[in-house]
Amino acid sequence: MPSGALSYETATANHPKKENEMSTTFEINILKNGPAICKGSLIIKDADGKIILQGEKAALCRCGASENQPLCDGAHARIDFQG
Ligand code: FES
Repeated sequence: MPSGALSYETATANHPKKENEMSTTFEINILKNGPAICKGSLIIKDADGKIILQGEKAALCRCGASENQPLCDGAHARIDFQG
């Protein structure tokens, strides 16, 4: 079951976002054999809701080897991650 630590919301017909809640463009680029690069207005929280990163860019680990989860610490290169 997902922890909910990483989530997003979209507007729906029943719950439209107000103008001041509108998101700017958010982009995720999956790097071959590396992390997912996220760009946009980011707030990443841990399972307890503590903000672990707030900024405009983040590299999320896809290989599982990072010692700084959910962020990439470069370990994908050490383990020769393929994906
Ligand atoms: S993708 Fe970089 S450490 Fe996992």
